[in-house]
Amino acid sequence: MLIAQISDLHFRVRGVRLFGAVDTYGATQRAIDHLLALTPRPDAVIVTGDLVNDGADEDYAALADLFRRLPMPVYPIPGNHDRRELVRRHLSYTGVLPSVGPLRYAVEEHPVRLVGLDTLVEGADAGRLGGEQLDWLDGTLAAAPGTPTLLFLHHPPFATGIGFMDEILLEDWRALAAVVARHRQIEAVTCGHVHRPVQTRFAGTIASIAPGTAHQVTLDFGPDAPAAWIAEPPACLLHLWCPQAGLVSHVSYIGNYGPGVLFA
Ligand SMILES: [Fe+2]
Ligand SMILES: [Fe+2]
Repeated sequence: MLIAQISDLHFRVRGVRLFGAVDTYGATQRAIDHLLALTPRPDAVIVTGDLVNDGADEDYAALADLFRRLPMPVYPIPGNHDRRELVRRHLSYTGVLPSVGPLRYAVEEHPVRLVGLDTLVEGADAGRLGGEQLDWLDGTLAAAPGTPTLLFLHHPPFATGIGFMDEILLEDWRALAAVVARHRQIEAVTCGHVHRPVQTRFAGTIASIAPGTAHQVTLDFGPDAPAAWIAEPPACLLHLWCPQAGLVSHVSYIGNYGPGVLFA
């Protein structure tokens, strides 16, 4: 099984450039083209939040039109730039979003169980799961202790060393760590929000962050580093389920980097 992860699309309708610089409509089109050109094609696509930039109705409508080009299941969760009810309304066609409450769910139809979480606190940049959702997660994981599981949420539950992002991570990360540590079937916890590929150990498993499909966060560990974004290559993650090895995760760059194979 191959699970693709795209993140932080910050989508705007065609013709609008984010910060006057970033064509996130084109970037989303290129990301979808990239997924469609992969061999084999991914069996599922998870989308880890910041689906749109400004939470606008017209942006979600246009994004849903592009997502419908993907023939495989699409599993979205919200980020801090999203509006929960608009995600629910425009992406209900995906068939996984609950009709009320947080946009969290477990997908049982693949060899890897996919559990999506909702960390959106509307009006805030940081994220939070909350006690009710953590209880739901604990019970959901306890129901399938023998099934390899991938958890996905927008806000990382760990610091990255990039100061301005570390101020707006998952606030109740300790509580998430306590739940994750109880369930050994969790192959990985994967996130978005930081627009860079990052990995760390977390609560007895692996936690990672996906790069963005459009702009990336500038890599600067300086204590006074300003909030800044950069046009490093857009990318997605590809999580390959290998029954012998477990879940193996790759970074897959989106774009044309030359004539193809250099040596063979
Ligand atoms: Fe983002
Ligand atoms: Fe975010």
